[in-house]
Amino acid sequence: MRHDSLTVIDNRTGMQYELPITDGTIAAPDLRQIKTSADDFGLMSYDPAFLNTASCRSRITFIDGDRGILRYRGYPIEQLAERRTFLEVAYLLLFGELPDTGQLAAWQQQVRLHTMVHENMKEFLEGFRYDAHPMGMFLSAIGALSTFYPDAKNIGDVESRHLQMLRLIGKVPTIAAWSYRHSQGLPYVQPNNDLEYVANFLRMMFKMAETKYEPHPALVRALDVLFILHADHEQNCSTSVMRAIGSSHADLYSAVAGAAAALYGPLHGGANEAVLVMLNTIGSVANVPAFIKDVKAGKGRLMGFGHRVYKSYDPRARILKEMADAVFDVQGRTPLIQIALELERIALQDEYFVTRKLYPNVDFYSGLIYQAMKFPVAMFPVLFAIPRTVGWLAQWEELLLDPEQKIARPRQVYIGEGEREVPLRPEALRSVARV
Ligand code: CMC
Repeated sequence: MRHDSLTVIDNRTGMQYELPITDGTIAAPDLRQIKTSADDFGLMSYDPAFLNTASCRSRITFIDGDRGILRYRGYPIEQLAERRTFLEVAYLLLFGELPDTGQLAAWQQQVRLHTMVHENMKEFLEGFRYDAHPMGMFLSAIGALSTFYPDAKNIGDVESRHLQMLRLIGKVPTIAAWSYRHSQGLPYVQPNNDLEYVANFLRMMFKMAETKYEPHPALVRALDVLFILHADHEQNCSTSVMRAIGSSHADLYSAVAGAAAALYGPLHGGANEAVLVMLNTIGSVANVPAFIKDVKAGKGRLMGFGHRVYKSYDPRARILKEMADAVFDVQGRTPLIQIALELERIALQDEYFVTRKLYPNVDFYSGLIYQAMKFPVAMFPVLFAIPRTVGWLAQWEELLLDPEQKIARPRQVYIGEGEREVPLRPEALRSVARV
């Protein structure tokens, strides 16, 4: 008997099976040798929402949810957030190592060369209603990029893949900022490549009539850290969508548009927006206990709390809580912070939240910081999508180079009707009777 294996005894037949254990997993296809009946395809595992199913081997991001650990390519998120910039972290996620000085300069320059978008993209954005949600515009525009770059279909060509990646990393801030400008009826601001990545984005967002727009360095740094914290998070909902679409060999832009759509939902990247809506609904510190009571009674969720993986704390939330003060020092404190702190205080003591291991996640604080920086609430999921694009790209490249991967195609347990005959229409029955 192998020591690194799982022995399964089928009590119905007495048959015994050895399932090898590799990297803490059994291979689900190994279950197929166990038949539940003579004509059975083979035993399957049933795992709605993939609670306990690894869909890939990955070298990119490590999470230990019980101990609150997050690492990109082995580096702790706390150190990356403190010591590096977003573009360095993007390079790390995509290529596996931090860039040296020369590599970083070349990388920054390459990204810079791709910040402009085709003029037709303006007309495309103009087609949206005046009050279109920027995230809807953002994901549509990203999908539309595939029509501008048909060469993106060459997914087997490494040079083409990397060109599309550069285009996307360069263009997502431009498209994001223009989605916002459209919703405000403001003219689009072209990128200024004298500026670094984040400062350039802030300028495209907020520049008005001033001759020289200069974002406050503390705000640039805060947004840079926010981008680092959101850059990747292994096999979350949108990344799984990215991999699923990528597995059909769709072009990169179509896959990122799909991933962005998954990110839009309030249980995922839309949670930061939902937190602000929730805090506004609560309205005052005095209303917090009643709100918590409603959540415990099953009337809605405490947005920004809980995580599928983190069951002690979300390390990103801890970094953001500490960073929030730097932003508030420049921008002033938002009145919602008091409500948020009171919610957190009560929830962290409450048996309902403690027993379910529900702690503040990254989105509990990110929304407050974005709001203090004067981003409108509807832009919050877009602010998540800009850096997460890098994670999606890294995961997509890994998928394409992984010989174990095929088109994603889960199985199902069919619980519908057995075979039945389609009845003839009444008029057909009448004509049969006449004959
Ligand atoms: N408020 C109140 N109760 C909650 C919450 C919440 N935020 N989250 C989970 N629960 C309860 C849930 O009702 C369930 O209770 P019971 O066992 O009595 O039925 C229990 O905790 C387990 O919940 P679950 O739905 O099985 O947990 P999940 O792992 O499927 O969901 C989650 C994870 C993040 C979707 C969920 O915690 C949630 O909806 N949180 C609010 C939305 C949010 O903040 N999302 C952002 C996640 S972090 C950013 C990102 O990476 O996407």
